[in-house]
Amino acid sequence: MKLLVTGGAGYIGSAVVRQLVEAGDRVVVFDDLSQGHRAAVHPDATLFHGRLEDRDAIDRVLAEHRPEGILHFASQTLVGESMEKPFLHLGANVRNGLNLLESAVDHGVRRFILSSTANLFGLPERIPIDEETRIDPGSPYGESKFILERILRWMDDRFGLRYAALRYFNAAGAVSPELGEDHDPETHLIPIVLQCALGQREKVTIYGDDYDTSDGTCVRDYVHVADLADAHVRALRALDRGSRTYNLGNGRGFSVRQVIETCRAVTGHAIPAEVGPRRPGDPAVLVASSERIRAELGWAPRYGELRQIVESAWAWHSAHPHGYADRGPAAAPS
Ligand code: UFG
Repeated sequence: MKLLVTGGAGYIGSAVVRQLVEAGDRVVVFDDLSQGHRAAVHPDATLFHGRLEDRDAIDRVLAEHRPEGILHFASQTLVGESMEKPFLHLGANVRNGLNLLESAVDHGVRRFILSSTANLFGLPERIPIDEETRIDPGSPYGESKFILERILRWMDDRFGLRYAALRYFNAAGAVSPELGEDHDPETHLIPIVLQCALGQREKVTIYGDDYDTSDGTCVRDYVHVADLADAHVRALRALDRGSRTYNLGNGRGFSVRQVIETCRAVTGHAIPAEVGPRRPGDPAVLVASSERIRAELGWAPRYGELRQIVESAWAWHSAHPHGYADRGPAAAPS
């Protein structure tokens, strides 16, 4: 298939591009490189350096490349930041998504995959969280993704645009020692802990140890980015049978302390940790039920062990302590 991937230079987008290219799809990456990295773009993909605010740019790319499907990753993604700057997330994520969808419909695109999030469930009423769990977004970021999910229902209803909304739990790990996570600023737990192992940070602060969990620290469902990528490829191939929504996680929860312990074991470094105050908006436990995608598409995580996830992340971080700044460019811009 010919595909357009927005945010294909970012952490999850670049992992998906790699699987698509390896499966023989032809991929055009649309990215403004504000958070993504040119070096993360697969050399066999075409990079278009553009902004989703620019409807003309989207039109040009769609007219030139005529993709059969769009995978939409480009987004503001930080939950905490969205609490401080709600208009940034609600405004940019919704407006950019609408720009893209309007252009997609105008150009006859019939397949669309949306990066959605477990943040849709806010403080969930039950664990594990399946697709029937009540939606009550925990932040403007989560709300922006929910609005896009709702818009997609109408795109399907009115224009026959088949979509998959994929709600990620905690994406983690690296596809290879050459393709991993590189955010600035970094806010995610595993890279922060590994930066301590690299000596780039003195210590990790545990955001609260008085939650109602086995060791008092928050429990999350860490899902390997290569498993997420596999889910996208399966969902894309299934769209001709109808639109669909899936929660994507391992179905297993690990506490912040368990993550730090695993990082100590994998890296052999002491990794000092101290307990700080809770981070506002953090639910105690987020664990997915991914039974629906398992049953419907035969998806199953191949890297379900926390140790495997951390080992792959460590292979990337230790090979590239400064992320993509340590790597040369991989793709020429168009
Ligand atoms: N944490 C710490 N110290 C840190 C960083 C994180 O204790 O320095 C804790 C957090 O409080 C949380 C856990 O580690 O309990 C994981 O935090 P992350 O920031 O890595 O991830 P989040 O769970 O906050 O959010 C991620 C994505 C969101 C997505 C969510 C869904 O960033 O986009 O997973 O579960 F919505």
